Amino acid sequence: SNSRRQLVAGNWKMNGDKALVDKVQKQFAAATLNNMDVVICPPFPYLGLFDGKVKLGSQNISQFESGAHTGEVSVAMLKEFNCQYVIVGHSERRADNNESSSLVALKVEQVLNAYLTPILCVGEPEDVRDDGTLFDYIAAQLDTVLLKVGISQFADIVLAYEPIWAIGTGKTASPAQAQEVHAFIRGHLAKQDNNIAANIVILYGGSVKGNNAQELFSQADVDGGLIGGASLNPEDFLSICQAAN
Ligand code: G3P
Repeated sequence: SNSRRQLVAGNWKMNGDKALVDKVQKQFAAATLNNMDVVICPPFPYLGLFDGKVKLGSQNISQFESGAHTGEVSVAMLKEFNCQYVIVGHSERRADNNESSSLVALKVEQVLNAYLTPILCVGEPEDVRDDGTLFDYIAAQLDTVLLKVGISQFADIVLAYEPIWAIGTGKTASPAQAQEVHAFIRGHLAKQDNNIAANIVILYGGSVKGNNAQELFSQADVDGGLIGGASLNPEDFLSICQAAN
């Protein structure tokens, strides 16, 4: 923990239903979480069902503004449903939908143009960590976006470090491993702007649970989490939010 405002976001991925929307809203209507942000990122159809107790994010966005792009959803549409955040560049989309870092950069730009907050995900596969090129890999993912939008726009971006080998595997990065990469990311941005680097919120994602959240969030450069599986259980998700509070 640190002086930055902590954020915990639940990424439902392609899970959940209307009943889960109700359960989450009940759980959070009763909860008091001060000086932090809680964001739920449900699949698109559910965004309109939320009543404003939690902040909303989407899991993806079109790189286009509007028009003839069948199957796509625009930032303007998200704004009509009070969506404030957009996850961009999740490793599952990079893998399942061949999203390149340059496409990710276009999407970040689209989100920023609409004054929404991108939650830009970076993270390495296991073989990259094993062969010792971890930092180059993360730097390259960041640099494509930095080149496209410029460092000053990072004042309006949230980052998420999600090591791919820790996603949905129950194999969490150790607090020290998370801290090491978060510090690297902050240092990488600091080469261009100290102030932006010091203030940017960097979330950790990858098998965060109620029993490991506290220790991860207590690391100096970890400012909260991006939660997959555990965000589908409202009680577990609330306890993870409390760990950041
Ligand atoms: O975006 C969150 C994520 O990829 C982590 O998923 O299920 O390991 O918490 P999970």
